[in-house]
Amino acid sequence: MKSASYVLQVAGLCKSFGDTPVLKDLSLSLEAGAFACVMGPSGSGKSTFLHLIAGLLTPDAGTVTIAGHELSALSDHDATCFRRRHIGLVFQDFNLVQTLTVHENVTLPLLLDGAEPDRKKIDALLEKLGIAARRDALPATLSGGERQRVAIARACAANPDVILADEPTGNLDSPSARSFCGILKQMNEEVGRTILMVSHDPVIAAYASTVHILKDGRFVDTFDTRHDPAFISERYLKTMK
Ligand SMILES: Nc1ncnc2c1ncn2[C@@H]1O[C@H](COP(=O)(O)OP(=O)(O)OP(=O)(O)O)[C@@H](O)[C@H]1O
Ligand SMILES: [Mg+2]
Repeated sequence: MKSASYVLQVAGLCKSFGDTPVLKDLSLSLEAGAFACVMGPSGSGKSTFLHLIAGLLTPDAGTVTIAGHELSALSDHDATCFRRRHIGLVFQDFNLVQTLTVHENVTLPLLLDGAEPDRKKIDALLEKLGIAARRDALPATLSGGERQRVAIARACAANPDVILADEPTGNLDSPSARSFCGILKQMNEEVGRTILMVSHDPVIAAYASTVHILKDGRFVDTFDTRHDPAFISERYLKTMK
């Protein structure tokens, strides 16, 4: 029986590419409203981990359960529908559709799901993210920070249970990165959105409440961030020794 208080449960996840094991028996549970960050060296499998959770890759062993649904038990079609409804993805390249406006990009996942977008709700979301004035603009005419906010709006539009963000601030300057994380945190605190983010930057990780350190395919340390970049950095370096 799975505990109802966990929105995301990962159990015994294993993944190899060819003969190379990348993830070895990873488990992680997040309660509703958690804000967690996975840190680890380049190539340690952070993106692979998020892709497995999002159902974009299939694990060799183990299970991913979101809002009580085990992903591997779903057909491809059902998994795609499930993803649109329950998981918000913010990846580094944002994947905005260049020929669609800001508003159209944000409502696209809802339309693909056959849902009627709630115009008031979407407008309120764009307002909250400070991009309402750009609702009819094309992505090519936006700044990097604005594009990032569109990606968050799109990730939030369907009220997902979990937002997965893979190094979402990788291409931003520091002020934009902080403003982006502030928005994520606001979504987490005000709407109780559960967030799992990947970052190698302690300043970014400090927005999360807990850090899970991935090394050699396993979680080797999990701790409360205290929202303190210096503390995170020290602990991270100690773990990497
Ligand atoms: N499709 C794939 N085919 C083969 N090997 C892969 C594939 N995807 C990832 N890998 C390998 O798996 C390992 C983990 O990759 P992953 O992208 O998950 O790392 P990461 O922790 O996200 O790294 P970074 O911090 O550089 O983004 C790497 O050695 C990578 O080369
Ligand atoms: Mg990566």
